[in-house]
Amino acid sequence: MVVSVVSLVGVKFYQNAGETEEDPGIPYYTTATPELTSAAATLLHKHNCQECHSLWATRDFTIAVPAPALDGEGSFRDRDWLAQYFNAAVPQDILPTRLKPQYRHPSYAHLSDEDRTTLTDYMFSLKVEDWYREQTEKRRFEKLTGKKWAANE
Ligand code: HEC
Repeated sequence: MVVSVVSLVGVKFYQNAGETEEDPGIPYYTTATPELTSAAATLLHKHNCQECHSLWATRDFTIAVPAPALDGEGSFRDRDWLAQYFNAAVPQDILPTRLKPQYRHPSYAHLSDEDRTTLTDYMFSLKVEDWYREQTEKRRFEKLTGKKWAANE
């Protein structure tokens, strides 16, 4: 499923256009400063994060790795968790995988402290509005486990 969340939201509101419901807008935002956003963009590009992950409706659509989208990441993990994840020699010790080795999240333990801090801070800055939190959680769960989300249904 590589259709972007933003376009799905767009379709939903288009379908509701005849009703009185107000368009609540795009649910994802960042608390990052422009400097952090720019430093992170350079790293995300350099390390091809968007070959596997979508973020801000952008990813490489020619490679279909079922990695969770990074939108809203910082609403689900705390800063320490993210720091440990980027510091781990084997990230799968922290977050188990269901994928073949070549699709798994790579270790970034070899990066400089500064670069890992930038990735950590930027991931933590990615938030989701409360009204879209459960939808996002559901997608994340299904991507990570390959199972259907049954909670609250
Ligand atoms: C080869 C594909 C691939 C690349 C490249 C990649 N990731 Fe991942 N990432 C994954 C997968 C798959 C997971 C889920 C865990 C797993 O299967 O290892 C994941 C998990 C994550 C998580 C944890 C999500 C959660 O559950 O909270 C974060 C954060 C993350 N990646 C950020 C990044 C960033 C930032 C980069 C670039 C510096 C990156 N990833 C590069 C595939 C990738």
